[in-house]
Parts: sequence; C-alpha cells; structure tokens
Amino acid sequence: MKLLEIHNVTKFFGGLAALTKVNISISFQEILGLIGPNGAGKTTLFNCITGIYPPSEGRILFSGEDITGLGPHEIAKRGAARTFQLTKIFSEVSLLENIMMARYCRTKAGVGDAIFNTSFAKREKNESREKSLYFLELVGLITLRDELPKNLPYGSQRRLAIAIALATEPTLLLLDEPAAGMNPEESDEMIELIGKIRGLGITIFLVEHDMRVIMGISDRIVVLNFGEIIGEGSPQEIQENERVIEAYLGKEEYA
Ligand SMILES: Nc1ncnc2c1ncn2[C@@H]1O[C@H](COP(=O)(O)OP(=O)(O)OP(=O)(O)O)[C@@H](O)[C@H]1O
Ligand SMILES: [Mg+2]
Repeated sequence: MKLLEIHNVTKFFGGLAALTKVNISISFQEILGLIGPNGAGKTTLFNCITGIYPPSEGRILFSGEDITGLGPHEIAKRGAARTFQLTKIFSEVSLLENIMMARYCRTKAGVGDAIFNTSFAKREKNESREKSLYFLELVGLITLRDELPKNLPYGSQRRLAIAIALATEPTLLLLDEPAAGMNPEESDEMIELIGKIRGLGITIFLVEHDMRVIMGISDRIVVLNFGEIIGEGSPQEIQENERVIEAYLGKEEYA
C-alpha cells in the first residue's frame, strides 16, 4: 500500500482546468518533489489533498482510505499536515502557544474537562507543552519560545510554520515552497531540517522553486505544467528530461 494515492484528479476553476487527470502516489517515508512553472497547479494539488477544495473529478486515498471531499480538519486528523505558501501564524501569541494551539486536533480533553481543569486536562496540557517544546527544539527555535512570531526574521517564521504543521503529528507533511525568499545559508538549513523530519519517519511532499533544495533532497520528482504531469523520475532523470527542460528548467546545471 502507498501512503498517498492520487487517481485521475481534475480541478476546474470555472472554465479553467487547474489540474487535469493527475496521477501520483507517494510511498511511506519518501520525499517526493513537485515542480513546475508558476500557475502549473502545484498549490491547487496541495489544496485538493488537504481538503481546502474538493477535486472536481478523481479520488484521493490516504493510508488506503478514501479522503476525497473530506474537510481540512478531518484530513489533518488522519495525519496529513501542511504549510502554506504564505505562512499562516498567529502573530500576537508566543511561538510556544502557536504550536500548542495547532495541537488541538490531537488532544482529547473536552470543553467540560477544560472548564473544570480536571486532572486529565492538566496531564494532557503538560504533555502537549512537552511535545510543543520538542518541535520548537527540532526546528531550532527553542530559545525563542516566548517571543512573538512577528519579531522573528523571515527564515525563522518559515521554520515556525513547519513546527506548527508537525505539532499535529502528521504521517505526511506537505511543504509549499518552504525555502521561498531564503538566502543560500537559510535554504541549506531548510534542507537539513527536511532531512531531520524524514528521519522521524514522516513522508514529505515538497513544492519548491529552489532547484538546489529540490534536486538535493527529493527521492523522486514529479513535474506539472498547465495542470498536467509532463515528467516523473529521479532528480538526475528530471534534469535530463527534454520536455521538462523545455517547459521549466532551461539548460542550467544543478549541483
Ligand atoms: N481559488 C482559485 N480560484 C480560481 N483560480 C484559481 C484558484 N486557485 C488557483 N487558481 C488558478 O489555478 C491555476 C493553478 O494555480 P496554482 O496556485 O495551483 O499554481 P502553482 O503551481 O502553485 O503556482 P506558483 O508556482 O506560482 O505558486 C492558476 O491558473 C491559478 O490562477
Ligand atoms: Mg503555488
């Protein structure tokens, strides 16, 4: 069984087909890269997988279960988490609180427990805090746990967004341009962080325009162009694929 199976997914926005009969599957613990020109449909595919929009046609299976048409909360609960191309962070609460808030889909205490502050709710809150601190440590932001996100430099905000996604304890993490706007040093740190996350046994689906990042870390790459898959293979195969070079990569060499 594959972790994620996308079967013939098509998405229309009015008359525009943003995705046309897309077929992709991801194995457990794989890092799959998704590339393609602006407007190719990469973010739309992530939106379909995570339940932001239902696909117009086709089916999506996660861990063998049909999740087509389920809402974002339901899909997050099953273990698919994402970051957004533009980070969604609560800027007026601390880093630690941002992560603890994201964990609520994993906590079981009900409203009653919370109001009466039962021992169950207290234990769960402590455990949640410990896990949140662990994710902050993982992304290298532990010393800044009491800071407000708005005071962080851009690269750190992106890492916070990843910690927020990890807080839901996903089996699949979808990263939409995690290295966008980063300098080479920051994108090296991002490569290292993605490697660490894979080391935790988490499968990664990665959209990125930074070819150094995508070629350096992906096990396999899928290329979208005008909503259709035009290439698929190892980083080496993708760099040599004439159709991909024509549509997207150009002739540049990527180390
Ligand atoms: N909510 C929407 N309503 C209408 N059209 C949309 C919507 N979302 C995306 N589109 C269109 O679908 C197409 C695919 O967009 P998408 O954002 O998925 O591209 P992308 O590959 O993520 O591009 P980029 O690299 O610029 O992020 C584009 O033509 C876009 O204008
Ligand atoms: Mg996009």
